[in-house]
Order: sequence, then C-alpha cells, then structure tokens
Amino acid sequence: MERTLIILKPDCVQRRLLGRVIQRFEDKGLTISAMKMMQISRKLAEKQYALHKGKYFYEPLLEYITSGPVVVMIIEGPRAIDVCRKLMGETFGFAAEAGTIRGDFGASTRFNLVHGSDSAETAETEIGLYFKPGEILD
Ligand code: RTP
Ligand code: MG
Repeated sequence: MERTLIILKPDCVQRRLLGRVIQRFEDKGLTISAMKMMQISRKLAEKQYALHKGKYFYEPLLEYITSGPVVVMIIEGPRAIDVCRKLMGETFGFAAEAGTIRGDFGASTRFNLVHGSDSAETAETEIGLYFKPGEILD
C-alpha cells in the first residue's frame, strides 16, 4: 500500500469541480485517509514548490496556489502515486489525454486543477507539510 498527497487546487474549488474530481479517485478504488480545506500560505507554497525556485513560472505558480482555498487529501492504495498521476494526466491541460482529470477539465498550463506527489520520497515530505500524524486515519 502506498500513500500520496493530492491537492485540489484553487481553480478546482472555484469551478465547483471538487465532487467530480474526488469521484474519479474513489471510482478507481483508492482510499482517502485524510482531508481538509485550507488556504496555502506563501511560506508553505515555497516549501511545496522549492524544486521550481528560480524558474520563470515560479512566482506566478506561487501566486496561483495561494490565491484561494484548496482541498488537501492523503490518498492510499496499491501504487497510489503512479495511479493518481495517471488519473490526473500530464501537467498541461492541452497535452493531457482525454479521460484524465486535466485532459477533461482544462487546457491551461498553470490552472491544472490538481497536484499529486511525484515519488515516494516527495509523497512523505509533502504529507508532512500538510498533515500531523493525528489527522491521518486508518
Ligand atoms: P504538480 O506538481 O502541480 O502536481 O504538477 P506536475 O508535477 O505535473 O508539474 P510540475 O513540473 O511539478 O510543475 C508544477 C506546477 O507548475 C506549473 N507550471 N507552469 N510552463 C509553465 O507555465 C508551467 N510549468 C509548470 C503547473 O501548475 C504545474 O502543475
Ligand atoms: Mg510536480
């Protein structure tokens, strides 16, 4: 069993797509073991996207991810990291395949609805950024 951190980004909340996006993870048979709504601070966003510091899209990315409420979840299941990335589709909506979340709900580079950890190591780090052990259910 593997765990991953999923963020339903500000555009997902604002466009009232939460239900339909969460449905996709549930339909796949994955389990939600933690979930909360919050607004990401600048400081937390800097930690989340430290890898991208200095890139040309870094500042707009931080502005976007801190711009409104998000829903953060821990999702569990067999090979959950990969499975979630597949359900999400490629980073840019216009490149993401039909049938994926990003492929079906958008065509943007930045407003791509959802975040999912990209490796086991990142998943553990990101889970630690957003959840305390007592907030994770089994
Ligand atoms: P994420 O981290 O959000 O799950 O997305 P990802 O792994 O598919 O993509 P990543 O390369 O980690 O990029 C992080 C976020 O930065 C924005 N981005 N904009 N050229 C651009 O304008 C550009 N490139 C990346 C996207 O919002 C992407 O999700
Ligand atoms: Mg990423």
